[in-house]
Amino acid sequence: MDTSSKPLFMIMLGAPGAGKGTQARMLSEVLGLPQVSSGDIFRENLRNATPLGRLAKGYMDRGELVPDDVTIDMVMDRLSCPDCAGGAVLDGFPRTLAQADALRQALVAQDVRVSLAPLLEVSDDAVIGRLAGRRVCRDCQAMYHVVFSPPKVEGVCDKCGGQLYRRADDEPDTVRNRLFVYYKQTAPLVGYYFAHGVLVTIDGDRPIAAVQADLLSAVQAASV
Ligand code: AP5
Ligand code: MG
Ligand code: ZN
Repeated sequence: MDTSSKPLFMIMLGAPGAGKGTQARMLSEVLGLPQVSSGDIFRENLRNATPLGRLAKGYMDRGELVPDDVTIDMVMDRLSCPDCAGGAVLDGFPRTLAQADALRQALVAQDVRVSLAPLLEVSDDAVIGRLAGRRVCRDCQAMYHVVFSPPKVEGVCDKCGGQLYRRADDEPDTVRNRLFVYYKQTAPLVGYYFAHGVLVTIDGDRPIAAVQADLLSAVQAASV
């Protein structure tokens, strides 16, 4: 898809398990834009036992948000890389109004705006079922679900042969806390992006390909 005319920054909104990561990865491949996932960056820091990873671990294990100052610095650092000059598909960031304002200011400084903020709407029950069955590749972070998108061989990544694992924060108690945190701290962003005229609501309670088709239509509409 040709979106080369202006930088395209899009923000995937939705509860934990809504499908942000799944859809962001597919969009990033189709659009040729980097996927910038704050959760993935934190998990990479955790794996490498960096100071940032050690700081984030307690918050992530409890299903709470990592403090804004470190999160904003980390994502702004990533967005300043040359591969983000043409835009990015943001997944998991921003998650608070302070983060949204920081992103807006950084983009305005480059004379750029967020083009699109799709909200994937999924019921709480569906979210809990999705996270209970989610499996992630240790090596390439590809996403699977034991029922909805299983790998060809159980426990093995189709794309790279890596081992699949279950995220520690996908335990039901932690998922309930993540949902609570979402409604309290992240849901206000829906109003924020509506007010900026870039919110598009998408029914995320449908098969992955149907959601993807709607997202691509929304990108096309935002790029003209
Ligand atoms: P993060 O990694 O961002 O987790 P999250 O928001 O809780 O979202 P998930 O990754 O759980 O869900 P998703 O919407 O990406 O769904 P997915 O595509 O995987 O954050 C983790 C933690 O890091 C946070 O709790 C916090 O501590 C910290 N953090 C991260 N960013 C932060 C920030 N900005 N500020 C502060 N702290 C931050 O899909 C889920 C499952 O469903 C998969 O198995 C998938 O195969 C399946 N699936 C997807 N779509 C469908 C479909 N249409 N039908 C059926 N199954 C589907
Ligand atoms: Mg995700
Ligand atoms: Zn893999």
